[in-house]
Amino acid sequence: MDPQQAVPLGPRKKRPKQTGTSVAATPHDIRFQDLVLFILEKRMGTTRRAFLMELARRKGFRVESELSDSVTHIVAENNSGSDVLEWLQLQNVKAISELELLDVSWLIECMGAGKPVEMTGKHQLVVRRNSSPSHAPGSQNIPPPAVQKISQYACQRKTTLNNCNQLFTDAFDILAENYEFRENEGSCVAFMRAAAVLRSLPFPIISVKDTEGIPCLGDKVKCIIEGIIEDGESSEVIAVLNDERYKSFKLFTSVFGVGLKTAEKWFRMGFRTLSKIKSDESLRFTRMQKAGFLYYEDLVSCVNRAEAEAINVLVKEAVAVFLPDALVTMTGGFRRGKMTGHDVDFLITSPGATEEEEQQLLHKVTDLWRQQGLLLYCDLIESTFEKFKLPSRKVDALDHFQKCFLILKLYHQRVGSDESSQQEGKGWKAIRVDLVMCPYDRRAFALLGWTGSRQFERDLRRYATHERKMMLDNHALYDKTKRVFLEADSEEEIFAHLGLDYIEPWERNA
Ligand code: CTP
Ligand code: MN
Ligand code: MN
Repeated sequence: MDPQQAVPLGPRKKRPKQTGTSVAATPHDIRFQDLVLFILEKRMGTTRRAFLMELARRKGFRVESELSDSVTHIVAENNSGSDVLEWLQLQNVKAISELELLDVSWLIECMGAGKPVEMTGKHQLVVRRNSSPSHAPGSQNIPPPAVQKISQYACQRKTTLNNCNQLFTDAFDILAENYEFRENEGSCVAFMRAAAVLRSLPFPIISVKDTEGIPCLGDKVKCIIEGIIEDGESSEVIAVLNDERYKSFKLFTSVFGVGLKTAEKWFRMGFRTLSKIKSDESLRFTRMQKAGFLYYEDLVSCVNRAEAEAINVLVKEAVAVFLPDALVTMTGGFRRGKMTGHDVDFLITSPGATEEEEQQLLHKVTDLWRQQGLLLYCDLIESTFEKFKLPSRKVDALDHFQKCFLILKLYHQRVGSDESSQQEGKGWKAIRVDLVMCPYDRRAFALLGWTGSRQFERDLRRYATHERKMMLDNHALYDKTKRVFLEADSEEEIFAHLGLDYIEPWERNA
């Protein structure tokens, strides 16, 4: 079902034919008999090819200088799968479908490991044979890679943090953000979807041909991809990065509590720096923005995993004081396996608590931290949750659970006897923390909703609406045809209700 798994992994079963003495062009011992490599010179160049051949032979790999029947693995650089396939056809190679077509990144990893490493989707040059099926005789033995159609919905794709197309996704993230700042929703969504689909690909886009058959890539997007392939950068992106409005919005919205409306206002007033804004007597700031300026340096420097873990302990201990049976789950980016984040998110739920106890918990926890001097900022929002309310139709609707947006004081931990961490600085860091409290029977929906990514959530809801005539949000799933709420105790059950294959949290990084 998964395109990444449609690709055969591990060494081939077929043993290479031995071709006698012609192989032994080097004095090096062959340690890996099952593989016979051929390195493609095209777009790599003679010198680099010779270097890589020598290096691989020294590591015990069998490398052919000429393409022959014994070759099992073709290694190429700066060539797409279709480029390599085209070249092989010109060489009159018969059993193309039996060859592994690999990017040089695989060989380089093998060199690092000193042995053949597993070939994964990021190494395998994906070839789409559907346009010319006659080219691959005998391909019924081996499933051709990536013939599985890529879905337009992120919830039908696996997106790990292993992004082979960062060059493109960084560019589209910037363009999407610029359209967001300009309140052009259509273009913003188009670029976010393009970035999301590229993040899910198990192979890097090397030529425009590689984009064939991939959804969510419109003409504008393809044009930018082409520009980046040719010049290594996009003129549109450079223009945005130098744009006054983009630069100012980016800077202003980096302050906690500053949204598009405030950024727009400050920009129109002619402000371009935070220091001018901070020192302006005529401006009024919200309590949130005051905290945002006060802890600015700490908050812009991302939260790392060790800090997130320390906050996890802090939250679990405080919750356990008041509701020992409560379940506390770290959600958001850290649940998806990210190493850094702009905050740490938690979902709290209790199977045994009364409504009263449930409503009191966040108050008690934040009061405790206030007494301990750890609460730098607290915005507690009471629940507006109603049991029988239909899920929201809006893709980006906020949920109705009780929650608090906090800034906590996290004291640095002493690392062994090392004093250096204690010498400099104030000894603590301000960390943004989000806590959400939900009724126990809604925990699966809340967990799914708060795990993200935002793009993954949007596509889940869009999929539910358009493909299943259902309504999904952070509280519930409603089947419009049967006119019933579908209950769930786990995320797996929600995916099953939607008729979707389960996607693990670390595969939701759309
Ligand atoms: N979310 C939500 N309602 C909100 C805020 C967030 O449902 N009012 C959900 C979003 O779907 C989001 C997830 O909670 O994906 C986590 O939100 P956020 O902390 O903003 O994003 P992360 O993915 O955790 O990214 P980061 O690492 O930057 O914090
Ligand atoms: Mn987060
Ligand atoms: Mn958050």
